[in-house]
Amino acid sequence: MAISIHAVTPSFAAEIGDVDLGQPLSADDVAAIKAAFTRYAVLVFPDQTFSDESHLDFARHFGPLETSVFAMRKDHKMRLAPQMADVGNLDAEDRILAENDRIRLYQLGNRLWHTDSSFKRLPAYCSILHGRSIPPIGGQTEFADLRAAYDALPDSMKRRLAGLVAWHSLMTSRAKLGFTDFDETEKKAFEPVPQVLVRRLQDSGRMSLYLASHAGAISGLSKADAEALLEELVEHATQRQFVYSHRWRVNDLVMWDDRCTMHRGMAFDDQRFRRDMRRATVSDVAPTCEQMGLAVAAE
Ligand code: OGA
Ligand code: MN
Repeated sequence: MAISIHAVTPSFAAEIGDVDLGQPLSADDVAAIKAAFTRYAVLVFPDQTFSDESHLDFARHFGPLETSVFAMRKDHKMRLAPQMADVGNLDAEDRILAENDRIRLYQLGNRLWHTDSSFKRLPAYCSILHGRSIPPIGGQTEFADLRAAYDALPDSMKRRLAGLVAWHSLMTSRAKLGFTDFDETEKKAFEPVPQVLVRRLQDSGRMSLYLASHAGAISGLSKADAEALLEELVEHATQRQFVYSHRWRVNDLVMWDDRCTMHRGMAFDDQRFRRDMRRATVSDVAPTCEQMGLAVAAE
């Protein structure tokens, strides 16, 4: 049976049915998923029960996998394979992370609007997140459509943004929550990297903002002007009409396009309820400045 596609919103989120991602996919199914993913930037696959290995195999259809940033810390006991980002609230022994655990404090950064890996020179193309355990209340994930947000900008703002380059660092987003506990290896790995503020998506041809809580400075602007502009753009892009809020069911697999969305995890009682969420992340094809044909001056 061919896969079925049900729009959740007219052009941002869709549900995909009649497919078992734990089984090898036919070329037609892969092509249909890719076509849907060009139109919709968020795809929800309900009721997927599969192993981490099948999850990673599914992700490999879309490109090379990233390695989780946690793999960098020798003192982190990893619960999952290094290609799987652990975004739940459990430790390697499957217990709920204590309130002051470094991993928990670090994960709180996921509550801020962001897109994955924009702090890497070669950022993410897409993220594929599986909900294994879901709290009964709270813990939704919200997604903002940065293509629709771009389209809705006045022409004067579109002109102002063309060619601008922002500098992204994981330390910038974490500093917003007072988290500064990085070792020397991390400080080096998380040096700010340049990203365009506006990009054209090669597959759909659509224009999109490219924003994240990781963004701080903008080349050619004062710190104050850069922060004011980023704040204004994030506020614009996260208005209700651009946002889809995902209420998780156990075994939902949600896939989003990191090139043209932001997302954030909503609060839940994380000292009481288990939330086991596992994410595979696929790298983009080239750094964003390169994709937009921009030469970047050093910051
Ligand atoms: C992520 C993320 C938010 C959430 O997986 O990249 O930010 O709701 N998740 O778990
Ligand atoms: Mn994320």
